[in-house]
Amino acid sequence: APSSRYEAENGVVSQGVVESNHAGFSGTGFVNYDNVAGSAVEFKVTSDVAGPRQVTLRFANGTTANRPLDISVNGRLAVDEQAFAGTGAWTTWQTATVTLNLEAGENTIRATATTANGGPNLDYLEI
Ligand code: GCU
Repeated sequence: APSSRYEAENGVVSQGVVESNHAGFSGTGFVNYDNVAGSAVEFKVTSDVAGPRQVTLRFANGTTANRPLDISVNGRLAVDEQAFAGTGAWTTWQTATVTLNLEAGENTIRATATTANGGPNLDYLEI
């Protein structure tokens, strides 16, 4: 099936801001998580089938510290502290892929920062 892209700037942002000051993003910008634990972006993601799906997150982290995110699906923790290591610059975007068990139809995927540094800058989620 063709991939579907969900721009972070179109997600529900909790403790973060949409910005566009670091080039290379897709869409109209990216989410800059507040530098606090608990800052989050939530996506409504449609899957045509139930079961494990590869879900890709595109991000930049211009620091040298990992900025892990907890990934939950439909309110349940699915990936504990997925790593988002430094990418070398805020304009250097990389992807991380996780396998998530989705339901057929609409799913709520939430990516929540677990450290006081907040999350990486998040560009999009793709399935
Ligand atoms: C800088 C950078 C932001 C980034 C922030 C951070 O301010 O410009 O894009 O989100 O650092 O450390 O989270």
